[in-house]
Amino acid sequence: MKLSTGLRVALGLVQLAPWVDAAPSSASESTLSTLSSAPSSAPPVSSVFTSVASTPSSAVSSAVPITSSPSLSTLSSGVSSVPASTVTSAVSSVVSSAASSLASSSALTSLSTIASISNSLTSASASSLTSVNASLSTSSVVASTGSPTFNTGTGTETGIITIPIAPVSFTPFPVPSDSPISGVFVETDPSSPPSPEQAPALGGPVPDFGKAWSAAHSKARAKVAQLSLEQKVNLTTGVGWEGGRCVGNIPTVGDFPGLCLEDSPLGVRDTDFVTAFPTGITAAATWNRTLIRLRGLFMGQEHKAKGVNVALGPMMNMGRIAQGGRNWEGFGADPFLSGEAAYETILGMQSGGIQACAKHYINNEQEHKRTQESSNVDDRTQHEIYAHPFMRSVQAGVASIMCSYNLVNDTYACDNNKTLNDILKREFGFQGYVMSDWSAQHDTMSAVAGLDMTMPGDITFNSGTSWFGQNLTDFVLNGTIAASRVDDMATRILASWYLLKQDSASYPTVNFNAFFPLDESTNEHVDVQDDHFTVVREIGAAGAVLLKNDGVLPLVKPRSIVVVGNDSGPSVYGPNGFSDRGGDDGILAMGWGSGTAQFPYLIDPLSAIQTRAIKDHTSVSWWRSNWELPGVASVVQQQSAAIVFVNADSGEDYITVDGNEGDRKNLTLWGNADQLITTVANNNNNTIVVAHSVGPAIVEAWIEHPNVTALIWAGVPGQEAGNSIVDVLYGDYNPSGRLPYTIAKSPSDYSAQLITGGGPNDILSIPYTEGLLIDYRHFDANNIEPRFEFGFGLSYTEFQYFNLKTSTVPQSDSDSAALEKAWAAGKATPIAEGSTTAAWLHRPLVKVTFQVQNTGGVAGSEIPQLYIHHPASAGEPPSVLKGFTDVRLAKGQTKTVTLALSRYDLSIWDTVAQGWVKPSGKITFSVGASSRDFRLSGTIPV
Ligand SMILES: *[C@@H]1O[C@H](CO)[C@@H](O)[C@H](O)[C@H]1NC(C)=O
Ligand SMILES: *[C@@H]1O[C@H](CO)[C@@H](O)[C@H](O)[C@H]1NC(C)=O
Ligand SMILES: *[C@@H]1O[C@H](CO)[C@@H](O)[C@H](O)[C@H]1NC(C)=O
Ligand SMILES: *[C@@H]1O[C@H](CO)[C@@H](O)[C@H](O)[C@H]1NC(C)=O
Ligand SMILES: *[C@@H]1O[C@H](CO)[C@@H](O)[C@H](O)[C@H]1NC(C)=O
Repeated sequence: MKLSTGLRVALGLVQLAPWVDAAPSSASESTLSTLSSAPSSAPPVSSVFTSVASTPSSAVSSAVPITSSPSLSTLSSGVSSVPASTVTSAVSSVVSSAASSLASSSALTSLSTIASISNSLTSASASSLTSVNASLSTSSVVASTGSPTFNTGTGTETGIITIPIAPVSFTPFPVPSDSPISGVFVETDPSSPPSPEQAPALGGPVPDFGKAWSAAHSKARAKVAQLSLEQKVNLTTGVGWEGGRCVGNIPTVGDFPGLCLEDSPLGVRDTDFVTAFPTGITAAATWNRTLIRLRGLFMGQEHKAKGVNVALGPMMNMGRIAQGGRNWEGFGADPFLSGEAAYETILGMQSGGIQACAKHYINNEQEHKRTQESSNVDDRTQHEIYAHPFMRSVQAGVASIMCSYNLVNDTYACDNNKTLNDILKREFGFQGYVMSDWSAQHDTMSAVAGLDMTMPGDITFNSGTSWFGQNLTDFVLNGTIAASRVDDMATRILASWYLLKQDSASYPTVNFNAFFPLDESTNEHVDVQDDHFTVVREIGAAGAVLLKNDGVLPLVKPRSIVVVGNDSGPSVYGPNGFSDRGGDDGILAMGWGSGTAQFPYLIDPLSAIQTRAIKDHTSVSWWRSNWELPGVASVVQQQSAAIVFVNADSGEDYITVDGNEGDRKNLTLWGNADQLITTVANNNNNTIVVAHSVGPAIVEAWIEHPNVTALIWAGVPGQEAGNSIVDVLYGDYNPSGRLPYTIAKSPSDYSAQLITGGGPNDILSIPYTEGLLIDYRHFDANNIEPRFEFGFGLSYTEFQYFNLKTSTVPQSDSDSAALEKAWAAGKATPIAEGSTTAAWLHRPLVKVTFQVQNTGGVAGSEIPQLYIHHPASAGEPPSVLKGFTDVRLAKGQTKTVTLALSRYDLSIWDTVAQGWVKPSGKITFSVGASSRDFRLSGTIPV
């Protein structure tokens, strides 16, 4: 935060915790002044979309003029003007984050010590390798140092398992070669993907990037053939923390210009003249593929125009625990929804010319001790829940994937042969490269486990050492790591660059400096925003979920409105006053951490409501304080509507806000919200609550209060927050958002909780004992009544469903008839390269059609959802989301909806056969308006 700069320096904390996920410290201190003219109305964006598939990537860059230095004044230090109470809390937040970074870095040091012992032993000499290996079994490494110790908790830990240092042969995984199926599995280049209306889940074609990848790999192989070992290694090794202008940098190698890797999943981080897009969780809450695609496309275009090569998103952690600090960066608590959102985001980003990076692979579901926790996950749960969105990312042709900080079954995720080589590269046929999260690599042998690139390159920030670099070269020279593996690493990295046509001479060069955004010599202030604010505004409205409405919304020319709550207005410190958004004051439009961007401006609800009031001659008053309850009790009396704005925030672990160390410490709304709402409701019989929340929060204190007449769950919507909510409140946008997670009545109703505690050297055990039963699956399986279920959301109109039909899709053209027959007979899919992404497994098999009619009084949008119900013997949750779409209907209008299911959609993971299998018995399904509001049901006809 602005305020903390001096404090950080004083505390020697200019650098944050070394494993911070791409968090430049100096960069984040900059504060941009608000742009003068905030747009007040948003034209519809639907027309923009038609250009998506057809816009050549070169058109994007030429459309963005490279202008120099527009007048952005920077704010001078705000220290003197900050009230004392804030100073105190800011100080304690810095101090506690200092304490935790110190604690963790000593642990990290001890871990790297172990690894460095093993590596230095190895590089000793090639001839003594055998004896070294013998003495270096995993257990002896851990035992000989006596550290770290495991907090065994409920799990049984073995100690950190690493790949033994011994020569390993290597054969590259081939590009899976399915033959395209005409109209079903179509050869596609990333620059021109099928439109969102043609999504496979709607019966459209599955894009087949195989040919594009293989062309890119040929070019890459030819290039790699001309490189020396040291040059190839350089392609895999970041230049080190702050070693370049981007948060991650690959150096120039020969005539290859290097790579710029930059955060974040919601925009270009640490620079100006960019759009601050809605968060992932808000995009997911729209359940609108077109809007999710557009968000991806525009983010991709902005990154590219800034000269970025690799944009570090999307993020698809699963929201396994409601408190998870970074859940808002992702797409909610269901793998299918998250997978579809990842797929559309990546198709969008990459059609904008940028390499996307699917992260964090895998099981990084909490922030607390994320570098020192082992997520112990069974194979079936891994495949069906956590790996699924990454599988969809691979199907979208994703260029790169980031392995996460945590361990999986006691092996670091960046060192994990099973998750990287076996699942990602072998099973999914992933053709791009795996990069480490920032400092998530722990030994050189991870190259053998499937890691292709180390970020930011140095072992700890600014150490000048690397697990790759000279060490990787040495490991090749002494015969431990096959030279062909380094060829493969370099090839994958260059192939992704060719795949996105970044070898084009017109690809923009880096024109900003993430670490020094105030340095005029390295920041060209290129304006890349275009009119992307229109889609920000629309997603903010489309992602708002109407949870309760006693007929009071939409507002119709209210006589008077009182706007209540700190969240309703601007922060005292401005939109970017808190470094990396690490504070909660005023409208919450982004969580905190590396997954952020600078707001160019931030429209707060109060000013947007006032702008609207001009039109209606409504009297607007307000009360921003959440704590002065007697005052609020009096100011809300006699007002036609009292709109209370509240929020709940979370973020990444390197910043602590009000005692929340990344993860939320509880699930209550922040800032005295329950008392505030109750006080208002006790004094005004039309109390409308708007919550800007990073995830679920408990609303039991007031939800049944008779005077709480409406509740809107408005997500975390980005720079147009105020305009978006006004569109919904006044019915300019008829709400169609649906919850991407369950809102429980009690925190203990969720199947998994934040695991806290653990000493500095402990590795926390996080057993995923709930298995497949996360979020609504658990509520359904255990008959727990949620407050608001997954998939729920109201509209200002009503819909009816009828005329359900199912049919099987003819497969006569298939050259995979034998595989299809075997599947129908209950045989598991074979173990093969690309077995999980094979064309035959994903082609539409069953079509479900039905009609939806708008039977209410106004135009509106419905989100029909399809859930399948497996036979009990399959061991699946009662209902599993496998389809959704969005339908916009005029008053009285009826439309026919088609959803498609593939064999993959109907299968479960067979851990013995290591393949996908159709469970025996009848699979039934329901179609409806939420995970508990089924309107039609049927039986799958296969
Ligand atoms: C190689 O790795 C070791 C850790 O095993 C580290 O101490 C050393 O500095 C690295 N060498 C280089 C040149 O980075
Ligand atoms: C490899 O990278 C290092 C560090 O960035 C640099 O000093 C060296 O010259 C590079 N080597 C080649 C062959 O590009
Ligand atoms: C983790 O252990 C479980 C239980 O043995 C196993 O099913 C799963 O495949 C393992 N996952 C990894 C990545 O090793
Ligand atoms: C690593 O995974 C690959 C791909 O499945 C497999 O062939 C290899 O045997 C695995 N290596 C180890 C050491 O388990
Ligand atoms: C989804 O968003 C697109 C783009 O704005 C819009 O055209 C479409 O109508 C939306 N769908 C629904 C159901 O509102």
